[in-house]
Amino acid sequence: MEIDLQTTLVSIAYIIAAILFIVGLKGLSHPRTAVRGNLLGAIGMFIAIVVTLLDQKIIGFAGIIAGSVVGTTIGAALAIKIKMTAMPQLVALFNGFGGGASVLVAGAALIEALLITPDPLIQTTVAAAASGLIGSVTLLGSLVAFGKLQGLISEAAVQFSGQKTLIILSATAALFLAGWLVSDPAFMGAYWALVAIASLLGVVLVIGIGGADMPVVISLLNSYSGLAAAATGFVLENSILIIAGSLVGTAGLILTNLMCKAMNRSLSNVLFGGVGAAAITSPGKTEDDVYAGRVKSASADDVAMLLETARRVVIVPGYGLAVAQAQHAVRDLGNLLESKGVEVEFAIHPVAGRMPGHMNVLLAEADIAYDKLKEMDLINPTFAQTDVAIVIGANDVVNPVARNSNDPSNPIAGMPILDVDKAQAVVVIKRSLSPGFAGIANPLFAADNTLMLFGDGKKAVLELITALGQI
Ligand code: TAP
Repeated sequence: MEIDLQTTLVSIAYIIAAILFIVGLKGLSHPRTAVRGNLLGAIGMFIAIVVTLLDQKIIGFAGIIAGSVVGTTIGAALAIKIKMTAMPQLVALFNGFGGGASVLVAGAALIEALLITPDPLIQTTVAAAASGLIGSVTLLGSLVAFGKLQGLISEAAVQFSGQKTLIILSATAALFLAGWLVSDPAFMGAYWALVAIASLLGVVLVIGIGGADMPVVISLLNSYSGLAAAATGFVLENSILIIAGSLVGTAGLILTNLMCKAMNRSLSNVLFGGVGAAAITSPGKTEDDVYAGRVKSASADDVAMLLETARRVVIVPGYGLAVAQAQHAVRDLGNLLESKGVEVEFAIHPVAGRMPGHMNVLLAEADIAYDKLKEMDLINPTFAQTDVAIVIGANDVVNPVARNSNDPSNPIAGMPILDVDKAQAVVVIKRSLSPGFAGIANPLFAADNTLMLFGDGKKAVLELITALGQI
């Protein structure tokens, strides 16, 4: 049997690239190995791209190089300039473009196949239909997610009558057009009509979801972009695209599932629950019921006195820490406390902030040692032995009403929380009594053992450092 050397070499290179993707993904599961994992994945992708270009001899290299230069320049500029708090919408944009690229490549491949034969392989048409459908939902859904997070369109969950009917109708129409394309591939109009209807589906699906749920949606859309790429891999008969797309699809689904679990919400509640359509003051209570006459405000000097006698302090970061960019100030506060003999640890809630690993990334950026960051299950039993818990810009993830898992009006019912209220004293640093993402009041702020230090997270921590230094 004659061995095609080039095909064998390409297959070997693709297997190496696939192994690098998998090892790279594994590396991303821990902050310590994440940078190396990212690098391995990038090397895998580099190998895959170079081998594909050399193997397929698709078009002139001038166009590819020009496209790469433009894409790399825009991508690098965005990645360097983007603020950490804007990372979710950047990822949304990247996912969307991935979906859009799949739509265009699958469409072009189908047109090319039709030039050769009016009756292409069923694999090609089914995969092209899947790519057109999923890729279009991903593109438009991601653009809506980007618009919401960037403040270009309303962050609120837009709910209108007939919304679910419109979703069902557009999904049915998209499936019908996909079937039409498969039965009559020569009619490319079915493909572009499918793209148009699936784009509408992407918009109506995401517009009804509140801005703060966008990270979950973006993770799901990330998974879709992988599935669209895998489908395009079948159209092009390119094994590495199928492998890479499937890995992205699966990783996105796993992450979506983890985020939903950490919030104790089902995916259908996130997608169709309309959470964030209207602000809820509190499950069953007004703000006055919760706070009136009970909230104790403290100054930085008061809190410094409290910390001076503490032996163990746990710092609890939340979304407000990211907004205030207080991570470096928090590191300095931790170091100062340790220099005074205080044991300091950081409590990490899985959905604190607005994206997975948000707090880990922020604190790592300030060079806070990984072994000081404790996951919720590990740190919760230690709050009872903690003298002071300092909550900085966190709200929902420390809200005790989450423990009441039977209240249907409570959007965080049953969500596991950090048990800061069990510490001897709690200091909450935030600007006001405003609610967090879930839109509900937090009885922790009115608890007997809580002191509120009102102010911007970074400013308040810096004042605290000054006050501690003066004791
Ligand atoms: P939130 O409950 O959203 O509370 C953040 C608090 O930060 C707000 O109450 C706000 O109060 C305060 N804040 C804002 N800017 C500040 C500043 N400059 N300085 C100090 N404080 C500031 O945050 P959380 O406790 O981290 O909980 C995260 C929420 O997002 C959860 O409900 C979670 O389910 C949801 N969520 C998370 C994810 C992921 S993956 N992380 C995904 C989807 C949804 P003031 O305005 O009074 O300052």
